[in-house]
Amino acid sequence: MKIIVTGATGRLGSLAIRHLLNKVPANGMAAVVRNLDKAAPLAELGIEIRQADYNNPESLQTAFQEGSKLLFISSSAADDPLRIVQHANVVKAARDQHIRHIAYTSFAFAEDNPFAHVHLATEYAIRTTHIPYTFLRNGGYADFFINSSLQTCIQNGVITTNTGKGKINAVSRNDLALAAATALTESGHENKSYNLVSNNPWSFDDLAAILTEVSGTSVIHQPISMEEEKSLLVRSGMPEALAEMTAFIYSTVAEGKMERTADDLQKLIGHTTSIKQLVVEALHQ
Ligand SMILES: NC(=O)c1ccc[n+]([C@@H]2O[C@H](COP(=O)([O-])OP(=O)(O)OC[C@H]3O[C@@H](n4cnc5c(N)ncnc54)[C@H](OP(=O)(O)O)[C@@H]3O)[C@@H](O)[C@H]2O)c1
Repeated sequence: MKIIVTGATGRLGSLAIRHLLNKVPANGMAAVVRNLDKAAPLAELGIEIRQADYNNPESLQTAFQEGSKLLFISSSAADDPLRIVQHANVVKAARDQHIRHIAYTSFAFAEDNPFAHVHLATEYAIRTTHIPYTFLRNGGYADFFINSSLQTCIQNGVITTNTGKGKINAVSRNDLALAAATALTESGHENKSYNLVSNNPWSFDDLAAILTEVSGTSVIHQPISMEEEKSLLVRSGMPEALAEMTAFIYSTVAEGKMERTADDLQKLIGHTTSIKQLVVEALHQ
């Protein structure tokens, strides 16, 4: 019987596998991949590779055979109704193959988030099976905000955003991956929903202060409008659709929609990686 991990070639899935390897032997898990060409690094770790596509129910039935637990990483498809179908395929295969615990990567405070309907639909699909679940309601990934582009902000002495004074509860993918591995290998996490967000949210003013501290040069946060932010990002070379999405996400920050906190992540893994540490790591990438 094995722990099955879907989305294993993705950024979250591959980190979760590395954390699982600290808790169970390599032959105690199987990695489910859509594209076998991407699976070589996982195979080198001694992990069994199984090919399956969320669009292909039969491939999932085969991939989940003799699985005891499932780390179900949500699909990255852009089409939400398609994602619901894909996720239903995963849930049905888990039920048919007698999986005994599903940990699903949902989204933080899903019931109050108009962009999380797919995740709520999936949570309810899982509930219909009566399989013990852990809903890993992941917060936003911090690397959306804290990444190597901060080098340019240091050079310019300014970060320009439309986040205003809004605070952000984003967390590192690595912490979320550890949370997933922990929930599947420790007892007591069955039939629980965890909102895995930072218990210490930060603003871009805070980020500017940290950049000043770690770089030794003054960096300020300069607020601008959403339209100005979008134009700035497009002028810097970002594709228009991505610039629009970024400026929109920043506007939700300004509206306080990303500031809600919980201490579920802290309790589950014993820490949350600080923004300062994430900044230092991002600047050394
Ligand atoms: N919390 C957040 O801020 C946030 C942000 C963005 C996305 N997400 C969600 O979190 C998930 C994991 O994040 P991530 O960073 O690991 O994403 P990622 O790097 O894009 O990985 C997604 C994984 O899902 C696999 N996948 C996609 N469609 C599939 C299909 N039809 N059949 C089988 N496997 C499929 C991908 O396979 P390939 O390697 O073959 O592409 C990949 O392994 C995303 O898929 C998305 O649902 C969360």
